[in-house]
Amino acid sequence: MRGVFITGTSTGVGKTIVAAGLAAALRKRNVNVGVMKPFATASKRYSSKFRSEDTAMLARAADVKDSDEEINPAFYELPAAPLMAAKMTNSSVNMQEVLYALKKLSIKHSFVVVEGIGGIMVPLTEKETVADFAKLAEMPVVIVTHPLLGTMNHTILTVNACRQYGLDVKGIIVNMMPKKPSPVEKATPETIERFTKIPVVATIPFSKSPSYRKTASLLEKLAASLTMH
Ligand SMILES: Nc1ncnc2c1ncn2[C@@H]1O[C@H](COP(=O)(O)OP(=O)(O)O)[C@@H](O)[C@H]1O
Ligand SMILES: [Mg+2]
Repeated sequence: MRGVFITGTSTGVGKTIVAAGLAAALRKRNVNVGVMKPFATASKRYSSKFRSEDTAMLARAADVKDSDEEINPAFYELPAAPLMAAKMTNSSVNMQEVLYALKKLSIKHSFVVVEGIGGIMVPLTEKETVADFAKLAEMPVVIVTHPLLGTMNHTILTVNACRQYGLDVKGIIVNMMPKKPSPVEKATPETIERFTKIPVVATIPFSKSPSYRKTASLLEKLAASLTMH
């Protein structure tokens, strides 16, 4: 399976906008790109077509006709980690089923951009986390983070967890860089690189009207390197 797994230091860090931007950048390169949000949770259904808002944005950015169930095989109507969201809605998480859905989708497309949920250690089942899923998917990982207070700790913890699981971290994306960064925020990408030994492959400015299209133009290099043979 060819693709990339987009994780982040936490929820709300910009995984969706990065995954959608990357899918759009790949499409621009004429790559037959698919998208997947294997696990999604929310307080309510987003639209009649898409249960999750993330799925809707990913599908639009990649311009795919795949169904909601193909893109997002596991949805739970409670905003929580899938383990808890599933339990409390009298459901359960079937990793094998979701993996099978990813395999099927990667037959239809030559490259699949997969967006995780929350951060890398989010529990999916009593025994498995998002990291286990990324490992079973055999996909390299890109980590989305931000340059604000608390980020060094979260970013280094995320890289360490990925290494512990044997995941191949291709790069880190620093999202939401303020227009006028403080000296500390400005120094954050290079400090992250020094401590993690992982390249920061893009820095995305904070925007009052963020869009995956704007993000796409900043991810052209990453799109090229991920699809190089
Ligand atoms: N560069 C940015 N500047 C401003 N807002 C952003 C930026 N990137 C993302 N956002 C906003 O932050 C929120 C969380 O982004 P999202 O991509 O949904 O994160 P995640 O998928 O990690 O939960 C969204 O409302 C999104 O529009
Ligand atoms: Mg998201």
